[in-house]
Amino acid sequence: MAQEGKQTILLVDDEEDIRDVLRIALSNSGYDVLTAKDGDEALRIFSETRPPIVLTDIKMPGMIDGIELLQRIKRENPDTEVVMITGHGDMDLAIQSLKNEATDFITKPINVEALRVSLQRVEEKILMKKKLMEYTQKLEAMILEKTELRDRLSSLGLMIGSISHGMKGLLTNLDAGLYLLDSGIAKNHKERLQEGLETVRQTTGRIKKLVLDILFYAKERELKIRPSEVVPFAAEVADVIENKIKDKPMELVRKFDRAPKQWNIDPDFLRTALINILENAVDACLEDTEKPFHQITFETLEQDGELVFNIQDNGTGMDSDTLEKAFNLFFSTKGTKGTGFGLFITDNIIKQHGGTIQVKSARGKGTQFCIRIPSPDPDA
Ligand SMILES: Nc1ncnc2c1ncn2[C@@H]1O[C@H](COP(=O)(O)OP(=O)(O)OP(=O)(O)O)[C@@H](O)[C@H]1O
Ligand SMILES: [Mg+2]
Repeated sequence: MAQEGKQTILLVDDEEDIRDVLRIALSNSGYDVLTAKDGDEALRIFSETRPPIVLTDIKMPGMIDGIELLQRIKRENPDTEVVMITGHGDMDLAIQSLKNEATDFITKPINVEALRVSLQRVEEKILMKKKLMEYTQKLEAMILEKTELRDRLSSLGLMIGSISHGMKGLLTNLDAGLYLLDSGIAKNHKERLQEGLETVRQTTGRIKKLVLDILFYAKERELKIRPSEVVPFAAEVADVIENKIKDKPMELVRKFDRAPKQWNIDPDFLRTALINILENAVDACLEDTEKPFHQITFETLEQDGELVFNIQDNGTGMDSDTLEKAFNLFFSTKGTKGTGFGLFITDNIIKQHGGTIQVKSARGKGTQFCIRIPSPDPDA
C-alpha cells in the first residue's frame, strides 16, 4: 500500500486492542507505525517526528479529543493528512472533522479493506501535492528564466542596433579613406595617399576599440580583487595616455605622492575604467578650441580610508543635459568617433569594486572625475 519507500503513520487510539490490531495491519501494508494512547502523547510524538499521515480516533478521553488533535496538527503543519476513526452515530463529529480539513474518515468496527482504500487515497493526495509543488517550482524557474532572457534580448537588440549604426559610420570613413588611397595612387598624389592612409589607420583603431568594448560588455567576468601596488599601477595607466598624447598640444600631470602603497583592487578592470575616463579627457581637450593650452591631471591618494582617483581636464566640459546622460549605455556626443560604451563600463567596474564616481563639469571650463574605492576584504 505504501508507495515510494516507507511512509510513517501516527496511529492514535485510547483502546490498546484496536491500536495493536491496526498497528499490525498497517505494518503489514508497508507503513512505519508510531502509536499514541491519547491526544497529549500524539501531539508530542507529532512535534518530534512530523509524520505525513495521522490516523486518529475521534473520541478520546483527556483534554484533547480527536477534533482538537486534528485542529492542532493542521495548525502545526497544514500539509499533514489526517484520517478520523468514528463510531456509529458520530456523524456530527465526522462532519465537523471534515470541516476542519480531515482528509477522510472511516467507521468502527474498522474494515481493513476500507482502511486500505482510504489510505491509498491519502497517498495519492500526498503524491499529487508533491507533484504540484514541483510543477509550481519549475514554472516559477521558467518564468524567471524567460524574464531574464527577455531583458537580455531587448538589451541585445538595442546594442546590435546601436553597434550597426556606429559601424555604418565607421565604414563610411573607411570608404572615404579608400577613395583617397585609390585616387592618390591613380594620380600619384603623395599628400592624398598620406591622408587616405591616416583615415584608414584612425578608423581601424576605432573599429578595434569598438570590438574590444563589445567583447568586454558581452563577457560576464568575475572580479579578481587582489592586493596591488598603487603607484606602479597608476603609472602604467598614465603611460598609456601619455603615449596617446605625445604629439598633441597637451600635457598629463601625475600626482602620486599621497598614494597608499597597496590596495585591494582588480587592476585589469580598474585600468580599463581609468583609461576610459582619461581618454574622454583627451577627447574633450582636443575638441576644445578656446584655450591655448590643455592639461589633464591624474591624481591618486588615500583619503578617509578610501583609495581616491582624481582626473581633471580643462577641455570642453559638459552642459547639464550631457552630464546627466554621460553614464548611459550608448550615449555619446562624438558621432562616429564614440560609441558611448566608455563611461557605462567604467561605472559598472567602480560599482563592482563597491566604489563611487562623482563628476563635476562646467561647459567651457572643464571636467573633474572623482573615484573612491573602499578596501574590500580580498576573501569576501
Ligand atoms: N571629460 C569629459 N569632458 C567632456 N565631455 C565628456 C567627458 N567625459 C565624458 N563626456 C561626455 O560623455 C559622453 C559619454 O562618454 P563615454 O565615454 O561613455 O562615450 P564616448 O566617449 O562618446 O564613446 P566611447 O568611450 O565608447 O568611445 C561623451 O560622448 C561626452 O559627451
Ligand atoms: Mg569615452
